[in-house]
Amino acid sequence: MRIELTVNGERATIDIEPRKTLADALREDLGLTGTHLGCEHGVCGACTVLVDGGPVRACLMFAVQADGSSVTTVEGMAADDGTLHPLQRAFCDRHGLQCGFCTPGMLMSALDLLHREVEPTRERIREEMSGNICRCTGYVGIVDAVEEAAAEINRIGTEPAHECPVHEHQESSTQRTSGTQAEVASGPEPSFPG
Ligand code: FES
Ligand code: FES
Repeated sequence: MRIELTVNGERATIDIEPRKTLADALREDLGLTGTHLGCEHGVCGACTVLVDGGPVRACLMFAVQADGSSVTTVEGMAADDGTLHPLQRAFCDRHGLQCGFCTPGMLMSALDLLHREVEPTRERIREEMSGNICRCTGYVGIVDAVEEAAAEINRIGTEPAHECPVHEHQESSTQRTSGTQAEVASGPEPSFPG
């Protein structure tokens, strides 16, 4: 089946089996291996990407469901000149990652949060990021990083320029999160200490 997507601002046409997930399509058909697969059943959040501006578990969504949509992956976060997004910079500066396996999903969830809330409290950050599991950091550095990135974006007044229409929010996808991401995870809500 042939589908058309806009991925990180670029049009892509791929022939794909209807049973293939969006995560596998991104990784195997488009070479975007920044989207990681951990649990592959909607619990860990490692595969989180934005579809038409909203966070989606790419392991739970069939690629054909994204036909005609705009998808943003971690590869699309930096500016066109390579300047890191404030979230990426802050995760580096505030020790928001160790092995980095959870990081693409963390960044996507944080990006979604900062598109909706300009100055989230630490409590809100923990709540909104509770659908993403990290085995390494203890989460404090992640909360620090999101808080710092929010302050930086407010200070500079904008995000780095890129062509992805990540601000478009549509509520059509059945895989779309509403409220916290933990609410759409098929497993128990992970704890998010810190
Ligand atoms: Fe998709 Fe874990 S790999 S939620
Ligand atoms: Fe290793 Fe989060 S940094 S799982």
